[in-house]
Amino acid sequence: MEDAPVNRLSGKVALITGAARNMGAEEARIFAREGARVLITDVLEEAGANLAEEIGESASFRRLDVTREDDWEQTVAHCLELFGRVDVLLQNAGIVPMAPLEELTREQYEACMNVNATGTFLGMRAVTKPMRLGGGGSIINISSIQGMVGSPNLLSYTASKFAIRGMTKAAALELGPHKIRVNSIHPGIVRVQKPRPGQPVQTPDYEAMGAGIPLRRVADVSDIARTALFLASDESAYTTGSEFIVDGGMLAGPTY
Ligand SMILES: NC(=O)c1ccc[n+]([C@@H]2O[C@H](COP(=O)([O-])OP(=O)(O)OC[C@H]3O[C@@H](n4cnc5c(N)ncnc54)[C@H](O)[C@@H]3O)[C@@H](O)[C@H]2O)c1
Repeated sequence: MEDAPVNRLSGKVALITGAARNMGAEEARIFAREGARVLITDVLEEAGANLAEEIGESASFRRLDVTREDDWEQTVAHCLELFGRVDVLLQNAGIVPMAPLEELTREQYEACMNVNATGTFLGMRAVTKPMRLGGGGSIINISSIQGMVGSPNLLSYTASKFAIRGMTKAAALELGPHKIRVNSIHPGIVRVQKPRPGQPVQTPDYEAMGAGIPLRRVADVSDIARTALFLASDESAYTTGSEFIVDGGMLAGPTY
């Protein structure tokens, strides 16, 4: 069931990365429903443009490869031109190379660090000035439970998501005086519709996975989007440098 919108983001402009599908798309829908104007960005142009059309006039799409400094510069300039400001940066873009350590190539490792970690750094740097001049903002970096604990076959992903958690805190300390808040979200297992790059095309057995989780289900994309909504809104005005674990209790401890 959809929450009734109460305009929690009224007047705000949000730039969301990797927003063409799955978690990022749900974040774009919920943000728009709550009154934000949303710049949907992704490297998936067709899906991104379709989503913007679905949402309507409060949304627009622009291609942004988060690893490219020139893309960031042009996208932030475009956002300012289109909407006049940027209040929220939600960094959702990510890739997940899966391989045992012995087989993980340097290229896979570097690609993962490049998109997930370097992309997040470049995004924070790109919005700092307009947010500072605009009187503040909220930066939300999507990490993972792999930013809190390690996982087998996910070495580069784990490294990149720990990096996101760390840079979130460093940025929060620097940007606090400018009223720019920076927080990280750490989702557990999220039910997504389309296969993610590097993952098997077969749909994972989410029911079986959920059975081992304290809340007895995997997350829905809306579970993560609603946490992002809280962090984007003024309800979280006194929260910065913090970690928001959204994992149904997985990291609370062993269940034996
Ligand atoms: N699905 C999960 O179980 C889960 C769990 C924890 C964390 N996460 C994190 O949540 C985020 C979204 O995950 P998802 O499951 O919706 O995955 P997804 O692959 O569907 O979405 C990620 C998006 O990022 C985009 N992207 C990839 N490389 C990019 C680049 N260089 N520049 C711009 N965009 C790029 C993709 O095109 C895609 O639309 C990711 O950061 C992921 O690591 C997912």
